[in-house]
Amino acid sequence: MEIVILPDSGAVARFGSAVLADLVRKTPEAVLGLATGSSPLGIYAELAALVAAGDLDCSRASGFALDEYVGISEDHPQSYAHVLRTEVIEPLRMDPSRVHLPDGRAADIPAACDAYEAAIRAAGGIDLQILGLGANGHIGFNEPTSSFASRTRIKTLAPRTRADNARFFDSPDEVPTHCLTQGLGTILEAKRILLVAQGEAKADAVARTVEGPVTALCPGSVLQHHPHVTVVIDEAAASGLQLADYYRHVFEHKPEWQRIAVPPAS
Ligand code: GLP
Repeated sequence: MEIVILPDSGAVARFGSAVLADLVRKTPEAVLGLATGSSPLGIYAELAALVAAGDLDCSRASGFALDEYVGISEDHPQSYAHVLRTEVIEPLRMDPSRVHLPDGRAADIPAACDAYEAAIRAAGGIDLQILGLGANGHIGFNEPTSSFASRTRIKTLAPRTRADNARFFDSPDEVPTHCLTQGLGTILEAKRILLVAQGEAKADAVARTVEGPVTALCPGSVLQHHPHVTVVIDEAAASGLQLADYYRHVFEHKPEWQRIAVPPAS
């Protein structure tokens, strides 16, 4: 894993957007794995600024959502379909027909999950998967004890996750109890992974994800088995890491050909 510790959430957003912009410039038809939640919003906003300035074209890229709630309509402001439309598709001027979500309203949920896996395969797989990290170590909605071999499926949200996400809803009771999520096995097949986390509340989950042990109690820790993961975090989220000084040393001494600089704040 590559661990990039930056001073604040603004630098995290600028670095993350530089990684994505670099990919889309080199591969305009890149397939992006799109996380929702608050963690990647700064990255999307930075990318939107590049698009608005004419410095980036995302119109040929495609996207696959990481997860979706079960049972709420795609017009609900907290459905991930709606969030992706307003935070990603429109600001990045992506082609809506190229952005896909698992269908949380399908009458046949297992068939919808199989169809989603087939669509990812048909697109040639995900080139870069963006991930947030739950305070309990979940990635996507793969709650603790999710199988490392799991594929897209229905999950019951952990009480902690429903409580964490209640801030987005009018009342805690409105948070759905179920979701569809790419499985850990699905996520591990992405060619590259960019995990983003900010703030003290994520420090424990970041430390468990990065420094192990690999355990189903912390689903993010399975990323230690992936060959190309970049973890980009602010100082607060890095505060539980034992080897933080080593990660800073590695980042400062990267060979020039591997380096993606943190763009300055505008
Ligand atoms: C949410 C999402 C995840 C997200 C994580 C962290 O519930 N399903 O995809 O990465 O939990 O959320 P946040 O970024 O808002 O802290």
